[in-house]
Amino acid sequence: MQLNRKNFLKLAAWSFSVFFFGLTLSIPTIKIRSRQKKIRLLLENINSGANLFDEVIIVKDLNMLRAYLRRCTHLGCPLNINSDGTLICPCHGSQFNLAGMAVTGPATKNLTELAIKIDPEKKFAEVEYELL
Ligand code: FES
Repeated sequence: MQLNRKNFLKLAAWSFSVFFFGLTLSIPTIKIRSRQKKIRLLLENINSGANLFDEVIIVKDLNMLRAYLRRCTHLGCPLNINSDGTLICPCHGSQFNLAGMAVTGPATKNLTELAIKIDPEKKFAEVEYELL
């Protein structure tokens, strides 16, 4: 085959197609998996104030329940209960009140509130949450 301008362009187009087709096949698919979890708790096991359950904080206040993700909004460390009953981050000292509000930095965002389902007949609370 003579390599004139027309054949050169055909060859270049074919090479280009093969290169990009091969490149497309060789790119690995990135899957971001979230970890969906659910906890189910007997209502009688939830005390007044803050309760820590795995990755979830449940706050019982005057028979109202609220749930928060147990992750500091600064860099994601798991929160603990402070001596005064509020929530504290062991990593850099951020503190949150029982309404989930950041009251001492470096965290500035409030805690992530989670939906809580309560089934009074079966006497349990259920919280679904997702970790990335
Ligand atoms: S991760 Fe909680 S204060 Fe930094």
